[in-house]
Amino acid sequence: MKLSEIVPWGRTLDEYRAMFSLSKADLSLKILGCGDGPASFNAEMTELRRAIISVDPVYQFSAEHIEQRVRATYQSIISQVKQNADRYVWKTFRDADDLGRARLNAMEKFLSDYESGKAEGRYLHQALPSLDFDDDQFELCLCSHLLFLYAKHLSLEFHIASLDELLRVASEVRIFPLVQLNGKPYPHLKVILKHLSSQGYSVQVDPVAYEFQKGGNEMLRISRPAGHTPV
Ligand SMILES: C[S@@+](CC[C@H](N)C(=O)[O-])C[C@H]1O[C@@H](n2cnc3c(N)ncnc32)[C@H](O)[C@@H]1O
Repeated sequence: MKLSEIVPWGRTLDEYRAMFSLSKADLSLKILGCGDGPASFNAEMTELRRAIISVDPVYQFSAEHIEQRVRATYQSIISQVKQNADRYVWKTFRDADDLGRARLNAMEKFLSDYESGKAEGRYLHQALPSLDFDDDQFELCLCSHLLFLYAKHLSLEFHIASLDELLRVASEVRIFPLVQLNGKPYPHLKVILKHLSSQGYSVQVDPVAYEFQKGGNEMLRISRPAGHTPV
């Protein structure tokens, strides 16, 4: 899949909290943000002195380049959202322009932290399905708006290999949302749940307090039982 096919928009810590039902205790874990892109999650967590590393293929680019790309796609994304306004829940955001402003604010926060975060090793250029981390390096991995959402671009094999890899490096993985870009449920969820259970992982689909895409209010929580070594 070409990187240009994925919307380069980022969300905030408050949104991550809601998407992943993050408790105070969760925020104190060693966290990997997979596919964080221009989200302000890492910057805000760092301000709170939390342990967070984000990986994304866009981190191979400079701050200017990432900003240019976000701004270049801005109008077309906003018009698509306007055209399909009935697919979304307009509660947190009043309308498409309000949403756009929130996304640009998150990007600004990310950009102001990007250079120092890179120097500190908090923004790493890595990509699924293969990550350069030790087994069990993280206690929690969060992956928002990548797996399941881009079902048309990322194959079932890619999803399975990516989940296996995330569960190698983290003992718990949470994925949000479970719907595709068109708002329909990810079609291979059952196959994936069966695969994960067969590997000995506990899997759970949990309702969450975040719903922007209609019906996109569930996350998948997968955990590796204590003593179960990564496969
Ligand atoms: C829609 S954005 C979501 C950003 C952030 N997670 C959020 O929810 O605000 C998807 C991100 O996934 C990244 N991405 C694309 N392919 C990836 C891969 N193979 N591994 C990790 N991240 C990837 C993109 O570069 C992009 O930043």
